[in-house]
Amino acid sequence: MNPKKSPNTRHSGKPPAPAPAEPLIAGQSIELLKELHILTREGKLNQDSRRKLKQVRHLYQFIEPLLVHLQEAQGDFTLVDLGAGKSYLGFILYDLFLHPRHCGQIFGIETRAELVTRSRELAGRLGFSRMYFEHLSAEASIHAPTLPARVDIVTALHACDTATDDAIRFALHKRARFVVLAPCCQAEVAAVLRQNKSAALARTPLAELWRHPIHTREFGSLLTNVLRCLQLEAHAYRVTTTELVGWEHSLKNELIIAEYTGQTRGNAAQRLATILHQLGLEALSSRFLDSPVPPAPAENNA
Ligand SMILES: C[S@@+](CC[C@H](N)C(=O)[O-])C[C@H]1O[C@@H](n2cnc3c(N)ncnc32)[C@H](O)[C@@H]1O
Repeated sequence: MNPKKSPNTRHSGKPPAPAPAEPLIAGQSIELLKELHILTREGKLNQDSRRKLKQVRHLYQFIEPLLVHLQEAQGDFTLVDLGAGKSYLGFILYDLFLHPRHCGQIFGIETRAELVTRSRELAGRLGFSRMYFEHLSAEASIHAPTLPARVDIVTALHACDTATDDAIRFALHKRARFVVLAPCCQAEVAAVLRQNKSAALARTPLAELWRHPIHTREFGSLLTNVLRCLQLEAHAYRVTTTELVGWEHSLKNELIIAEYTGQTRGNAAQRLATILHQLGLEALSSRFLDSPVPPAPAENNA
């Protein structure tokens, strides 16, 4: 199945409908939004919280159909949110979907102990009994005995730096049906591009794409997500990428949604290896590939 497409914005001849005054989703708990400090104690919205709610609403329209699909297909499901932070996403999904439908469980994974404690307390206060929080890194979660062997959907929203890559490895290890990623700024690929810049400029005019420092960062970020998509496709996931509305002023506004189909895109791993090789990024091959790319022989670099 395909995740829901963004609302149709094609011109219909009529003036566009006005944006809803309240960006709340029907059935959303005001008490929860106050607890998450999205609404003030008086239940009011400020500009910041309006933006946050717009983001939540946008994200929910992509995740809800995946949960509906899982519920219809198997009755129950497990979602693991890696780099959960204050677990906004988990709480809102629970409030809007898991609670009214009496199905599903959510695990929030977070390295900051105080956030894990706060989330456990909040879930206890709200009676969200199928929410669990683990003080673990995304990497340690892969083999953590406290997490279920079967995980149906993995989310990682702005999980810092390489935590998104660990989330992908977690999803691949569990062979999760769905993976929803909003990658964070990723410095690692840009760092390797920067390190090898002189050699790359001597080798290929394509290195102009990342010659200027701001381009090194932006190209590094774009390239990271391209490599992640290829990695998922090489493991039999169908990948869709789209924009996260509400993050317009951020470089971190990409949403990657992947569904396990069992059908590997034939040339994905090979293309991934070729890109790493041609851009001099062999050092990163173990991050994206199961078998490492050997360093290019000098005569092939001309
Ligand atoms: C920018 S916040 C995003 C929080 C949340 N996902 C959201 O979108 O509101 C990133 C969170 O990831 C956590 N984090 C960073 N590295 C991590 C890792 N390797 N494993 C698990 N959590 C990590 C941080 O402590 C932080 O709470």
